[in-house]
Amino acid sequence: PEPSAYPSPGVFHPLVASSDPSLESASLPNDFVWGIAASSYQIEGAAKDEGKGPSIWDLLAHRNYGSVSDNSTGDIVGSHYWLYKQDFARLAKLGVPYFSPSFSWPRFFPFGNGPLNQEGVKHYDDVIANMVSNGIKPAVTLFHWDTPLALFNSYGAWTDPKIIDDFFNYAKFVITRYDAYVPIWYTFNEPQYCNWQYQYYPAGNNKGIYPAYHNITGGLSARIACSHYTILAHAKVAKWYHEEFKGRGRITFKNSGNYYEGNSTSTEDLDAVARNYEFVLGWFNGCWRDGDYSPMIKETLGSLLPNFTQAEKDLIKGSCDFFAIDAYTGYLATAVSGGSAACAANSSHPAFPECASSSSLAADGFPLGPSADNEMSWLYSTPVGIRRFLNVITKDLFPTVPDIVVSEFGFAEPFEGQQTKLENILWDLRRSDYYQGFLDNILLAKTVDRVNVTGIFAWSIFDNFEWFSGNQVKFGVQYLNATSMERVPKASLFQMLNWFKTKGGAT
Ligand code: NOJ
Repeated sequence: PEPSAYPSPGVFHPLVASSDPSLESASLPNDFVWGIAASSYQIEGAAKDEGKGPSIWDLLAHRNYGSVSDNSTGDIVGSHYWLYKQDFARLAKLGVPYFSPSFSWPRFFPFGNGPLNQEGVKHYDDVIANMVSNGIKPAVTLFHWDTPLALFNSYGAWTDPKIIDDFFNYAKFVITRYDAYVPIWYTFNEPQYCNWQYQYYPAGNNKGIYPAYHNITGGLSARIACSHYTILAHAKVAKWYHEEFKGRGRITFKNSGNYYEGNSTSTEDLDAVARNYEFVLGWFNGCWRDGDYSPMIKETLGSLLPNFTQAEKDLIKGSCDFFAIDAYTGYLATAVSGGSAACAANSSHPAFPECASSSSLAADGFPLGPSADNEMSWLYSTPVGIRRFLNVITKDLFPTVPDIVVSEFGFAEPFEGQQTKLENILWDLRRSDYYQGFLDNILLAKTVDRVNVTGIFAWSIFDNFEWFSGNQVKFGVQYLNATSMERVPKASLFQMLNWFKTKGGAT
């Protein structure tokens, strides 16, 4: 979109609020969790500082096998590593009750296992202490994709069962040290995507330097193995946590998913919707069923899929205390030929087109987004799907879920660097509308549909490094001046703060 399409600053854009009259009197209880989320590689910078070991993302960004669209890296981004005190002081002043960061495994253990990096430990000690002294409650993710490169080199990281114990030891160290201050733990961020990242490591490339590469084809078997060990690693940590810290806090992992609805009511299109849910969510959520993969996945992958032993199934079942979902938008699904087989070939890859073709869901008059054929279509989000999605997850797909937290929601816009006028960035009215619409829909799901949604986190604290899109796409509720490191609040931040001021929630 042209920046000139924005209304001029000073003119308030009418909000796209739901017209549902029940919103007026609806409010949130004061234990409703809300805050802002981020991840280590995306905001910390300080990539080589204070003893941190390299992660696979340091390498992915620097070698850039066509993985980051603009060749940018997370070397510096917002330097949150050095500026966290300012960041927390601002969140506290604005009254944001929770912050959900991830911790960097290779800052604690530069080689993934073995020697501990005391500077890294001291850093996160200070981070937690500072958050707590500012009255901000941490919801910490242990792993948001920055796998220690050393583990990748020595045995292929998530493709090998050795990763389970290495992750367990890291998790045990961090949880033991900080548990008294952390009410919410997430083991993994979006395992659906973290496995998929292996496809960016080209087999055979740089063999001499990174020997494990030639063992990882980036294909289906690597991704199946990654999923398998991720699920087991989560379960092992959760079981230990439950035994060790009974009743202290809660643990789960963050799912990635979006709402889908059939483009028609044909059986084919409805099957496409079901397939997507099973291949994206069912794959990882044995914890809400019988500890196993979903029947559809088993049937489709057949002997390609490793089995869980009964003991492993018992471990997996009950390893999630609540359902956490990162959910940004909604789509209409149209069946493609190949059905489940097409999903399987693209297993644990959350991008939908190989499972079905999709187009943006722009219902309820939320006028966002260019056509879905446009490569930028994912940038624009529609908030209406979230209400229905929460219903689908907790009532249809996983009825044993006691409560659900939206662990990320957010709105992206393209970033044209210096060409984009600051005032246009700060008056982010489409993002503000999206926040309003999304929060309204959460409230309706809770109060009208009686979905037990207990929390929500906005992505993200400031404009940061967006993985495969690098610097070309920004999600922040604060603008980041990448030279001065200044963070400048956008309208959407105030939109969210005002919404909670009116509707309640944690303080
Ligand atoms: C979910 C991921 O967890 C996060 O790292 C990413 O930046 C956002 N989605 C936006 O794509």
